[in-house]
Amino acid sequence: MRAEEFQKKFGIIGKSKEIRDLVDIVMQVAQSDISVLLTGESGTGKEVFARAIHGYSKRSSQELVSVNCGAIPEGLLESELFGHKKGSFTGATDDRKGYFEIADGGTLFLDEIAEMPLTTQVKLLRVLETQEFMRLGAETVTKVDVRIIAATNKDLQKEVDTKKFRNDLYFRLKAVTLNIPPLRSRRGDITELAATFLKNYSVNNRIPEPKLTNEAVDLLINYSWPGNIRELKNVIESAATLSRTGILDVDSLVPLIDVRHDEDSRNLPVHLNRPADVLDREMIYRALIEIKKDLIDLKQFALRTEPEIDPPAVKTNSNEIIPLEELEKQAILNALEITRHNRRKAARKLHISERTLYRKIKEYGLL
Ligand SMILES: Nc1ncnc2c1ncn2[C@@H]1O[C@H](COP(=O)(O)OP(=O)(O)OP(=O)(O)O)[C@@H](O)[C@H]1O
Ligand SMILES: [Mg+2]
Repeated sequence: MRAEEFQKKFGIIGKSKEIRDLVDIVMQVAQSDISVLLTGESGTGKEVFARAIHGYSKRSSQELVSVNCGAIPEGLLESELFGHKKGSFTGATDDRKGYFEIADGGTLFLDEIAEMPLTTQVKLLRVLETQEFMRLGAETVTKVDVRIIAATNKDLQKEVDTKKFRNDLYFRLKAVTLNIPPLRSRRGDITELAATFLKNYSVNNRIPEPKLTNEAVDLLINYSWPGNIRELKNVIESAATLSRTGILDVDSLVPLIDVRHDEDSRNLPVHLNRPADVLDREMIYRALIEIKKDLIDLKQFALRTEPEIDPPAVKTNSNEIIPLEELEKQAILNALEITRHNRRKAARKLHISERTLYRKIKEYGLL
C-alpha cells in the first residue's frame, strides 16, 4: 500500500514532512508485534494513529481494545485489565475476563498510560515480558497473544524522574516511540484539515458547505491551536453551525478562538485586541453556539428516537427540576470549553480529580 492510500484508509490528513515521516514509520512498525508508545499533546491524533497501526497490522481482523487508564478508578484497573475469579474481592460476583483476554490475538491500546498506578505498572511489565498473567484470585496463569500500543500526553521521562512511572516499564515501552507534533509546528496541514472538516460536517448535517475566506484561512493558520486538531475540528464545526451567510470570515471565527491569550497571534490584525464590550458579546456568541449545537443534537436525537420518549433537555422553567446528571454534564462541557479542552485545568476548575473527569467524560460520551 502506498502512503497516500494508507492515510486515506485511516483518515490521516496531512502532507507535512512531520506527518509523512510518521506515516512511513507507522507503516513499517505496524506489521510487527513490537510495542509502540505514542506521545503528543492532547488532540494531536494519538488515537487516530493507534487505530491505523492496528488496522494495518496482521491482527486487524481481531479486536482493538481501548482502555483509558485515567478513566478507570485505581482500585478497579487491575481487575479490568486482568480479569478476576468469582469472590476474589467484594463485588466480584462472577468470573470475568479482563481486557488482556478480550484483546487476545489483537491489540490492546493503553491510553493515558501515565495515569496507571505503580502497582499495576509492575504487573503490566510482567505481561509484556512473558505474555502471561493471573486473573485476580486465580491460581493458574493465563497466556495471551496481545500487541500493546500505549499513549500519553505527559512527558514520561519526567514521570520517571519524579518516581510516578517505573523506569523499567518506560524502557520497555519506549523502544518505538512515535511523537505526534502539535498542530502549530506543522501549520502547512491546517488548510487541508479545515477544508476536510468543513466538507464532512456539511455533508453529514445536510447543509450547504460554507466557504472560508482567505483572511479566515490566514487566521486559522496563525493561531496556535493549544487543543490541536480536536480544537480545529470543534471551531470549524461551530462556525459552520452558526453560519447564516454561507461565508466563514474572520468575524465568524474570532468568537470561537481564544486569540487573546495567544502569543502566536500577536501578528494578527490589531482589531482582534478587543475591548470589554466586544468580549461580552463573544461570551454571548459562545453561549448561542452551544445552544444551537444542542438544538441540532436534539433534532438528530428526536429523529432517531420513538416519539413518546422525551428528549433529555435541560429544563429552563424554575418550577421544574433539572436532573443533577444534566447539570453535571453542562458544568463539565463549560469547563472544557473555557479551558480549551485542557482536561487538567478543567478538572481543577471543577474541583474534581483528573481521573474523575476522564471517567465522567467517557460516561457522558463527551469526547
Ligand atoms: N491527522 C489527522 N487527520 C484527520 N483528523 C485527525 C488527525 N489527527 C487527529 N484527528 C482528529 O482530531 C481529533 C482528536 O484526535 P485523537 O482523539 O486521536 O487525539 P489524541 O491525541 O488521542 O487526544 P487526547 O490526548 O486528548 O486523547 C479526532 O476527532 C480525530 O479524528
Ligand atoms: Mg486520545
